[in-house]
Parts: sequence; structure tokens; C-alpha cells
Amino acid sequence: TMALLTLRLEGDPILRKKAKPVREVTPHVKALLDAMLETMYADQGVGLAAPQVGRLRRLITVDVGDGPYKMVNPEILERSEEQQLDIEGCLSVPHFNGTVYRPKRVTVRYTDENGEEQTVEAEDLFARCLCHEIDHLNGILFRDLVDEVIDMENPSDEQIAYMQEHHLLPEKSDAEETPSAAEDEEA
Ligand code: NI
Repeated sequence: TMALLTLRLEGDPILRKKAKPVREVTPHVKALLDAMLETMYADQGVGLAAPQVGRLRRLITVDVGDGPYKMVNPEILERSEEQQLDIEGCLSVPHFNGTVYRPKRVTVRYTDENGEEQTVEAEDLFARCLCHEIDHLNGILFRDLVDEVIDMENPSDEQIAYMQEHHLLPEKSDAEETPSAAEDEEA
């Protein structure tokens, strides 16, 4: 097992800086991607960007359930006009959740860990996660984009009504019950 990386939290200036392109996928870059992935899993995240572990490089890791992606210099080529709305969290912004509009689908070009150029078409949570992580590379935190703040520990009646209206809660959920799904998917 490798050492886990230390997460940088909101307020750390590195999270507001623009990350630099990676010129070559060296063994050092590969090792960093592996360590990022381990750190992401250890913290039960679905995505992680290098600035979150103190490295200003354009590297992200993502796993929304269909296996890990390690991306070097990811770039959004296309975004659908169709939007999606859902609750987000972020490992660097603990104890804060809110809804964010994102494109329903994105096309992302990146270099993989073998130095090969790849293109992936993503939708739903995968698309959301890619947008969130690529934002990190540009110094943007999801808090900047939040439409509605959700206190997941203690949502108000108004917020529960909002989440029900936007289908952000299970259909038959007890209104008194605290929704916890988003807590497991911090990026
Ligand atoms: Ni994040």
C-alpha cells in the first residue's frame, strides 16, 4: 500500500490557482495518479483533482462505479445544451452540499497513463464528475456554482420540498429522514 496524500481544504490558496499542463506522462506522474486514486477511494470520493492534494498539475482521477479513470490534461470538447441538476459535495469542501446545474453530457479528451490520447463521452453522474474535477484544475470550486445550498444534516422543510420537486430524494422517502446519498459521493 502506498501513502495516502493529504487533502487540501477550502481556504487553501492552491485550490484557487490554475493547474499547469503535464508535458509528459513520466513514472512520477503515473505514481501520483495512483496515489490520487488510492486517496480518493480511502475518502470515499468519486473524483479527485491534483490541486486537492497540493499539486498544481492537470491531473484527475474519477470512478463513478464503472472503474477508474486516470486523466492527464483533460479538456471538455463538447457540452450538451441539456442540463442536469443534482446535489454535489467535494472532499475539499467538507460539510457542505448544494445543487449544481451541469451539462447532461460532455465529451472529454485526455491523455491516459500510457501517454495515449483518448476521448470519452460521459453522461449523468460521470459527466457531472468530470465537469467538477476539471473545474478544480481551473481554480473553481462547486460552491461557486451552487443553485441551492442543502444542509444534509438538517434540511429545512423548504429544502426537502425543493429536493422532492426536483426529484433529488427517493420517491417514497420519509420527509423526516435525512438524505444521505450525496454524502457518499463527494468529489
Ligand atoms: Ni471537488
